[in-house]
Amino acid sequence: MKTEDARYTRLLGSLGPSVVLESHMPADRYLSDWTGDHRGQALAILRPGSVEEVCKTVSLCADMELPIVPQGGNTGLVSGAVTTSSEFAVVSLERLNRIRRVSRDDFSITVDSGCVLQAVKDAAEDSGCIYPMALGAQGTCQIGGTIATNAGGVNVLRYGMTRDLVLGLEVVLPNGVIWDGLSNLRKDNRGYDLKQLFLGSEGTLGVVTGACLKLFPKPDRVETAYLGLQSFEDAMELFSRARYACSDLLTGFEVIGSECIGMARYAYPDLPVPISENTPVHVLFEVSSGALTNLREMLESFLAEEMASGSVVEAVLAENKAQALSFWKVREGLVEGHARKGFHVRSDVSVALSDVPRLIGALRGMLTRRFPGWMPQAYGHAGDGNVHFNALPPDGLDEDRCRAIGQQIEHAIFEVVEDLGGSFSAEHGIGRTKQDRFRTSMSGPHRHLIEALKHTLDPAGLMNPGCMVG
Ligand code: FAD
Ligand code: LAC
Ligand code: ZN
Repeated sequence: MKTEDARYTRLLGSLGPSVVLESHMPADRYLSDWTGDHRGQALAILRPGSVEEVCKTVSLCADMELPIVPQGGNTGLVSGAVTTSSEFAVVSLERLNRIRRVSRDDFSITVDSGCVLQAVKDAAEDSGCIYPMALGAQGTCQIGGTIATNAGGVNVLRYGMTRDLVLGLEVVLPNGVIWDGLSNLRKDNRGYDLKQLFLGSEGTLGVVTGACLKLFPKPDRVETAYLGLQSFEDAMELFSRARYACSDLLTGFEVIGSECIGMARYAYPDLPVPISENTPVHVLFEVSSGALTNLREMLESFLAEEMASGSVVEAVLAENKAQALSFWKVREGLVEGHARKGFHVRSDVSVALSDVPRLIGALRGMLTRRFPGWMPQAYGHAGDGNVHFNALPPDGLDEDRCRAIGQQIEHAIFEVVEDLGGSFSAEHGIGRTKQDRFRTSMSGPHRHLIEALKHTLDPAGLMNPGCMVG
């Protein structure tokens, strides 16, 4: 923070010490993200506590021509909320954290954007409903962050991405004016659906301050199975049969290559792994329903057939909620293990469902052939065609070399994905780390539309410069 700068003094004078973080307060957590890959700097850290204060903050910054970086829980994985310049201000939404209204009858919840996702899920459950967005960072990430990144997670299969869960939004535009689109209507065809502009906009078009979100009835029954299979081909064939057999009762289908299990153990050494660790592919399989369906019987008979045919070689069904949570801990642990290990290549790609085995085979082959010593880690939301293919550096390689080779690996991953007609960013977004690829991969008309939108909403280019588009 530049507390001696005249602009800092003006911010403090106009907004007050409740909004402007003062020099004696710790600033670190606003300046580096969860990955620890990047450390930023900032002229000031601003923490408005009401929508009015967000308006005042954003218009003052516009008046001062001071670029701003909106920030939620700072768990984004592409450095979108990390400032790159001490000439920028961070606008943290953490104090804007009220649950405004829960409606059981409308199946909706209206919240401030700074509410932590877990708090919104808890408020939904208190009313007998669920807000189904579920991801490893849910105890820290904010609703505004999930909206700005159009977050996915482990329930997309049944409930969709964040884009599918938002009924209305309230946004402070780059000139400090509020756009009130906080509707709770499920059908509304009055012209363009403007809220969708802000879903996945990564803080480049405005500051989201409020959201009305869809709720769903809380399932009375949830059954979770941890399965072992011989290959990703078998896993995707199982997925297809499960999708037809269970239809929308199938809520989760996550795959984990056995090479990732060591990383889950690295994070949580005492973690029980339900099946043999070396079984090539582990699958987390979850179904859920209302009370009238005999879900357990359905799952048992489906899996009995799959085991008889040899497609599933090991299966453990959770006996209770605690055991189900311990299954999910393996999935959560491997992500935590990667982070604890230090620098690694992280990717977040998607292809058509039928291409998932080919994608993983090609990526593993590419890494072994071209980057010996780097360890592949394949896991992800296979039911959505979304694979996280990470690469861990060989022990002892110094960090600069890791980063340089890491860039080559990332490039090689993108080439493989492009050959399969996939996306190099399935859920984490563009941020500051995938900007080059984004720029070069756009067609002329696509780039023109993106630039025109950005220019129309943020003509001075003050919203999150250097992130995604600018
Ligand atoms: P931040 O990191 O603070 O910000 C992310 C972006 O949103 C930035 O560009 C920022 O400028 C912008 N932004 C934040 N708040 C606002 C606002 N109010 N108005 C305008 N712009 C704003 N992501 C998935 O999609 N699926 C997963 O399964 C998943 N799992 C994860 C697991 C772990 C352990 C971690 C650490 C991350 C995971 N993520 C996942 C990524 C991340 O949690 C999500 O992208 C999340 O949505 C980010 O929310 P946040 O509040 O932390 O946002
Ligand atoms: C996950 C994050 C990394 O799926 O997207 O765990
Ligand atoms: Zn993911």
